[in-house]
Amino acid sequence: MTAKVIDGKAFAANVRAQVAEHVAKLKADKGITPGLAVVLVGEDPASKVYVKNKHASTIEVGMESFEHRLPAETSEADLLALIDRLNADPAVHGILVQLPLPKHLDSELVINRIDPAKDVDGFHISNVGLLGTGQKSMVPCTPLGCLMMLRDHHGSLAGMNAVVVGRSNIVGKPMAQLLLGDSCTVTIAHSRTKDLAEVCKRADILVAAVGRPEMITGDMVKPGATVIDVGINRIERDGKAKLVGDVHYDSAAAVAGAITPVPGGVGPMTIACLLANTLTACCRANGLAEPKGLTA
Ligand code: GUN
Repeated sequence: MTAKVIDGKAFAANVRAQVAEHVAKLKADKGITPGLAVVLVGEDPASKVYVKNKHASTIEVGMESFEHRLPAETSEADLLALIDRLNADPAVHGILVQLPLPKHLDSELVINRIDPAKDVDGFHISNVGLLGTGQKSMVPCTPLGCLMMLRDHHGSLAGMNAVVVGRSNIVGKPMAQLLLGDSCTVTIAHSRTKDLAEVCKRADILVAAVGRPEMITGDMVKPGATVIDVGINRIERDGKAKLVGDVHYDSAAAVAGAITPVPGGVGPMTIACLLANTLTACCRANGLAEPKGLTA
């Protein structure tokens, strides 16, 4: 079997187009422009690239982008004061504090200071609890993107065996909650799981989010399964820099029914879902109906 390649780049472009259409309508009908505030503390080169891309994408869909770049030595009190101002600002519907923060800042304290209704990352402890109890919440962007692609490919996910490899708060755990919400039978596997290959091989849906290059190989994939590769690992091969996922693509694609590539799979969906979450937050803040197909 040769797997169908799930084109995340095209999917994300479609999500962004849907968001842009909703934004245009909100502006025309209600005079409301959704606004996203992104806070970057320090000079981490990767974070700077992410923030730049987020800004460009936000503008592209017609939203307001508020960028706050603070020096690495910013005090916790100053950062919390900025978050308080953004929480109180009616033009700001979504707030994202780029992680990782410099070591002297307490990430949990900072994230939990964000108004949960504006927490477009879905990292606030209230949103984690709401998601875990099946209530309306803000959902972390990467797992939301994976869910959208899975629903698009399969329609209903009910009754499917889903295995999530990885137990991070950002991807693994919320991904498992979302799949459970769609009535999958869910297993969370991780680095200490016994017989990982055998566990993975039971999966109709296999989500790899471990952060280890090409760890999931074709012999661990059930024939016909859908493989979602969340990993983005920079490696060097044959003297060249290369981007690979957590899945060994060629061997897995030979067995799977469908697979996301790296790059061009899950990656582009993260920013698209950040924009979708900002739109959702804006609609909720204004008592308007949420955009269909762009939420969990
Ligand atoms: N750093 C890397 N990815 C993310 C993300 O999705 N959200 C935030 N806030 N920081 C990140």
